Amino acid sequence: MELRHIRYFLAVADERNITRAAEKLHIAQPALSRQIQQLEDLLGLPLFIRGSRPLDLTEAGRHFQTHALQLLNQSKHLISSTRNIGKVEAKFTMGFVGSLLYGLLPEVARRFKEAHPHVDLSLQEMTTLEQIRALKEGTIDAGFGRVRHEDPNIRRILLREEPLMAAIPANHPLAERESLSLQDLCPETLILYPEAPRPSFADLILQAFHDRGLAPGRTVDARELQVSLGLVAAGMGVTVIPKSGLGLQRPGVVFRPFDEERLVSPVLMSLRVEDDSIYVRSLLALIYDIYRLEGIQHVEETF
Ligand code: BEZ
Repeated sequence: MELRHIRYFLAVADERNITRAAEKLHIAQPALSRQIQQLEDLLGLPLFIRGSRPLDLTEAGRHFQTHALQLLNQSKHLISSTRNIGKVEAKFTMGFVGSLLYGLLPEVARRFKEAHPHVDLSLQEMTTLEQIRALKEGTIDAGFGRVRHEDPNIRRILLREEPLMAAIPANHPLAERESLSLQDLCPETLILYPEAPRPSFADLILQAFHDRGLAPGRTVDARELQVSLGLVAAGMGVTVIPKSGLGLQRPGVVFRPFDEERLVSPVLMSLRVEDDSIYVRSLLALIYDIYRLEGIQHVEETF
């Protein structure tokens, strides 16, 4: 039995007249009668009471009508739902740590949207460690952070090492200097962020002091980068920011580079190890394009 038999049968059962059903189906009446006969032969019993005017269904015919209608609707649903699969929007979510928002992240997101206009892109702020969990749970597809981590299910790509800068109150004697060292900051109150959760960018800075045999005199915790800069503007201390934070220029604060090239913060991209989708490949490629365009030093990894 073919779907065609069902459509023809339902048309005749609806019209209760073979001639009108044939007109509705745009086929010749003898051809329609043959198809109904074929169906009855296949089932081995009559579906219509012969000679009745208008045509009446037999008991088997009524049973067949109910179920044939369901089958036809299911087949229509199958066709439309399958066609829709190609149209369903893909989703892509990037997790990021706040400080990346002041640098290249907006450009990365803009280019990704341009390259994949049909993809529903979302951005979610979260710590590097939250990104690892979210990647494993499948709630994000790529994470951008600064804290190194190890997880067998996560692929970590070091995108670049971003230089660090000191943020100093504009009226502080250190603001007179063109460049600074971490040692210069030791007598000052060092404002660290984010406050929680740890390990975070704050620990990266403390480690940089420690690696050089130094320790900041006094530390104060701030919730995030913007708050930290606000405290610097208020003369409460000094802080260390990634260079991309230069976009956050504010009155009362000056930024000074360090005279040591190795004072950097990693920019890390995290992905699920098994994920080599066109989206993650394209994301990495467009980040490298931006670096090349902007002359940003980096080492490229391949998939
Ligand atoms: C970057 O600053 O290098 C960066 C920021 C966000 C995403 C990718 C790269």
